[in-house]
Amino acid sequence: MTSSAFNAHLSELRTVVEAALSQELARTNWPVSLKEAVEYSLMAGGKRLRPVLVLLANEVCGGIPGNAIAAACAIEMVHTYSLIHDDLPSMDDDDFRRGRPTSHKVFGEALAVLAGDCLLTLAFETVASNRGLDSQLGGSQIAELIQILSRAAGGSGMVGGQVLDLEAERGSLVRSEIDGRNAKSLDKKGWKSSAAAVEKSDNSADFSTVQAITPQRISESGQNESNRSPETRVEELSRIHTMKTGALIAAALELGAVTAQADLEQRKRLRQYGHCIGLAFQITDDLLDITGDQIRLGKKPGRDADLGKLTYPGVMGIENSREKSEQLVQEACEAVAVFGDRSKWLKELAQFILERDH
Ligand code: IPE
Ligand code: IPE
Ligand code: MG
Ligand code: MG
Ligand code: MG
Repeated sequence: MTSSAFNAHLSELRTVVEAALSQELARTNWPVSLKEAVEYSLMAGGKRLRPVLVLLANEVCGGIPGNAIAAACAIEMVHTYSLIHDDLPSMDDDDFRRGRPTSHKVFGEALAVLAGDCLLTLAFETVASNRGLDSQLGGSQIAELIQILSRAAGGSGMVGGQVLDLEAERGSLVRSEIDGRNAKSLDKKGWKSSAAAVEKSDNSADFSTVQAITPQRISESGQNESNRSPETRVEELSRIHTMKTGALIAAALELGAVTAQADLEQRKRLRQYGHCIGLAFQITDDLLDITGDQIRLGKKPGRDADLGKLTYPGVMGIENSREKSEQLVQEACEAVAVFGDRSKWLKELAQFILERDH
């Protein structure tokens, strides 16, 4: 169990983040509908894990808190954009997020896509403008923050991981089409058209039939998963999860370290910690999709199974997944032990990831 002192600190940091996010939004002069859509998702709560990690990493390295505020806001903006897009009908097709109907349900798909785009660009404007409380960051630190955030958000990080996640899921659809249900989706060379690769059935009844007909999924290389060892599938999963979720979480730690001018050893330790809790975080997300409660989660559970997602509990089972996330949290705590007493909040936060119910 996390301590009441930790819970109080967490809530203090969240309050700082919420206030700074509101201030950033208040500055904008966007079209009213766009601002409304961005505000709807960004200010809907959420755990604020990534910005809190930026602030905690700054703190553990003895930094000035005001120097970390802009980066903390920026990573939450990138994360919120990723959620809006993740929920779109062309991706996970979800109706609830952060306890509310998803952005596209309320504002329509076009505005939801644009609200996401707007949050992504606002993130970089926020870091570059460096408007933290008494922020004293130099130009080269700001450039480094931008580099860390863009790498983690892009093709070798979150966006790349989302692509792999969808490909692992959609393999079943593509295979059913290859099996003759929709042969027109193949061109002369036998390549699936890009439309077929990303298209989900319009009709949910049809979709479930497709899954029932073809329960075994096909990997990127076209190999039938049933012929692949559990080790190979866990490696694939670990890559997907590390990219789609772990990269931003690890980046949060690095951003905080840069704002505190941490040395290389401190940065390395925080990176290791971030890598471990990032993977543990997505494993617990997969577990909560099975065991969680919609009200607490603020999103609908059971969606991974509906969509045929490749998940840790799906491959390793619930108990082994729990064990894996416990191991990762332990490794994370070991990585930051060098910070001595100052690591206590990071250790409790790692514990929070294991115990969370939302
Ligand atoms: C959900 O992230 C998406 C994943 C990367 C698993 P969070 O669980 O951090 O969502 P919020 O920010 O608290 O809403
Ligand atoms: C999403 O993973 C990761 C992102 C990059 C947004 P999930 O698709 O499992 O997240 P939830 O369960 O919808 O929050
Ligand atoms: Mg997803
Ligand atoms: Mg999703
Ligand atoms: Mg999930």
